[in-house]
Amino acid sequence: LKPIYRDANFPTDAQGRTYHLGTREGEVAPRILSVGTVTRAQLVATLLQPPAPGRQLFQRVSSRGFHTITGRFEGVPVSIVSTHMGMPNMDFVVRENRAVVRGQMAIVRLGTCGAVQHPAKLGDLLVASHGSIAVRRDADYWSLLERDEHQPSARTANGGGSSNGHTANGHAANGHGPAPAAPDVCFVEGPSALAGRRPYSVSLPVRSDPYLASILVEAAAAVVGPGRVVQGLTASADSFYSSQGRTGPEFDDANEGLLGALTKAHPDLMSLEMETFHLMDLARCSKGSIRATGICVALAERYSNEFMEYSKLPALELAGGTAALRALAGVPLREATGEELAAAA
Ligand code: URA
Repeated sequence: LKPIYRDANFPTDAQGRTYHLGTREGEVAPRILSVGTVTRAQLVATLLQPPAPGRQLFQRVSSRGFHTITGRFEGVPVSIVSTHMGMPNMDFVVRENRAVVRGQMAIVRLGTCGAVQHPAKLGDLLVASHGSIAVRRDADYWSLLERDEHQPSARTANGGGSSNGHTANGHAANGHGPAPAAPDVCFVEGPSALAGRRPYSVSLPVRSDPYLASILVEAAAAVVGPGRVVQGLTASADSFYSSQGRTGPEFDDANEGLLGALTKAHPDLMSLEMETFHLMDLARCSKGSIRATGICVALAERYSNEFMEYSKLPALELAGGTAALRALAGVPLREATGEELAAAA
């Protein structure tokens, strides 16, 4: 039978199940481990005990492929949720879990990432205790580039040497001249529509929960040894490819200098992934109701171009999972306020 959803603003079915994750109140713990894949969720769930003696772990798979597993870790109720990849999926996971849990929550993301610079290296556990920035491909850059190509006067005004807004070495000729013209006036006489426009936007940092990150670092060091745990800033990109500085001949991504620019601007940047920024951003906008941080296994080393042997991953997922569950179990959370309970009733 197909469910019937009410409320286009925040759809739930007749049982109160959310639209993408398909869970309802009572099925999710306030302490959530968000992992990228279903196999990681199942692997880390081997560390859990059932919610009550003699019962099984709670498991639900939604029609959109989100898995929720609820049980106990060292006696404390926790849920593991497979989040898949990218910021839109993290948005479903944070908002829909927030809707079915009362009181303060803690969310830790355990993912994989690319290590950007030393001391982070393959197989290390990287904790985003310095927070996260977001790196986004700005499609308007290419739209304005197309308009420039159709505007002879702009070519002349652009300095004459470059007909498409790129310099001779392929990098974007940006950062000069006035602010970009509003798109609708790009065809009129005047300076290049590209002036001041960059192909990638880089956000300001959003912070991680300092206490949650500190107990996560401690727990990770206890599991793998302090030499394999690195703290720093993470960058969440809106692509595994272009906005993580991966290059190739098929697309004009204008990203050859991106990694260098990121590490220059942020000397403490150690990882590139696709979700943590959005988790931390929503946590800081949650009116104090969500504590969040992230840890990732360095699967790729971007400075040496090495990629980890996949057979080594499960042991590291279990190590990172153990550390994340310990931190989740140990962080104090405040109870639901009367106001929150009344709103839920
Ligand atoms: N995940 C990412 O987003 N990037 C990497 O390089 C590896 C894992």
